[in-house]
Amino acid sequence: MHSLVLWGIFSSLATSTLAQSTTQLFNFSSYVDIENSVLRPNGHLLLTTFDKGRLYDLDPHSPSPAAKLVATFPGSTAITGIAPIGDDKFAVSGGVRGSYHYDNETIYTIDMRSNGTVDVVAKLGTAIMLNGMASLPSHPHIVLSADSRVGVLWRVDTHTGTTNLALQDDYLMAPENSSVPIGVNGLKVVGGYVYFTNTARGIFARLPVSDDGVRFGQVHVIAHSDGYSWDDFILDTDGAAYVAQSNNAVVKILPSGEKMVVAGGSESMALIGPTSLVLDDHETVLYVTTRGGTVDGVEYSGQVVKVELPKA
Ligand SMILES: *[C@@H]1O[C@H](CO)[C@@H](O)[C@H](O)[C@H]1NC(C)=O
Ligand SMILES: *[C@@H]1O[C@H](CO)[C@@H](O)[C@H](O)[C@H]1NC(C)=O
Ligand SMILES: *[C@@H]1O[C@H](CO)[C@@H](O)[C@H](O)[C@H]1NC(C)=O
Ligand SMILES: *[C@@H]1O[C@H](CO)[C@@H](O)[C@H](O)[C@H]1NC(C)=O
Repeated sequence: MHSLVLWGIFSSLATSTLAQSTTQLFNFSSYVDIENSVLRPNGHLLLTTFDKGRLYDLDPHSPSPAAKLVATFPGSTAITGIAPIGDDKFAVSGGVRGSYHYDNETIYTIDMRSNGTVDVVAKLGTAIMLNGMASLPSHPHIVLSADSRVGVLWRVDTHTGTTNLALQDDYLMAPENSSVPIGVNGLKVVGGYVYFTNTARGIFARLPVSDDGVRFGQVHVIAHSDGYSWDDFILDTDGAAYVAQSNNAVVKILPSGEKMVVAGGSESMALIGPTSLVLDDHETVLYVTTRGGTVDGVEYSGQVVKVELPKA
């Protein structure tokens, strides 16, 4: 309890001191929930949404950045995870969204070199909620897709469509009694480790993975969320993570587990429902996507917010 109180004080201090380094680049004018984001080789962002399975492109360096519709994904009402698979191509997960349950979960690819051509790679009949997705650095055409409800990682070869259950682990599952039954959520593969958040368990953790995404070691929990929900995240080259946190904040987690709020926070209106993050410009800039939400009776739509990080 004591540490929660201290944490609250710290986060509001951090919010006020960092407020001016946060700039909204864009928000949708009608309600669109942005779920995930990734950086293209040309510096643009791709944004997955729950808006009729639409994918958008946004140039954050434009003087007036705006989301431009790139593609819709046939058979999906919502798209979730996105991961680069090389040459400006991306794997995307999507399905027909219900309440903590999706039908017809599908892995697609989209080729941005040929005007956003979408292909269906695999249909995952037993998947329930595909969420974060990551490609393997040494085999980028192979992706791991986190299933928040089954509590597993699926491994999908985007060349062949071959799909298998790569890892089942308690740490990937939501506890039986959780009110929001979302287990593994954000996912990244870096430096021989799979990093993930588990929303219902309130953890950020990692485990060793072989280059081919077949063998896994033991889960090591890096940090606990102290009652907040954690969504997607991005890692910097020092192994620190920036995580979307449910009190409208971005929290930085050092490899030691030490945490600090670097943007937004309960007292701030800068970020309304942060969902995912991208690092850019030699890790001096974060782009944060949000789902929007209702604050004091006013409905806000999904945003893309730029956060300038202090230089190291
Ligand atoms: C799933 O896909 C099948 C085949 O295309 C379709 O008939 C069915 O309506 C889809 N399910 C939902 C819930 O949309
Ligand atoms: C992409 O679209 C543009 C404009 O519609 C067209 O001129 C171009 O040929 C297309 N390129 C490919 C690779 O399909
Ligand atoms: C869920 O169960 C665990 C262990 O049985 C318990 O520690 C935890 O407080 C419970 N959580 C809720 C939200 O009931
Ligand atoms: C978009 O952002 C502006 C500026 O913060 C805000 O005034 C407006 O209410 C937002 N609109 C929606 C739909 O979120």
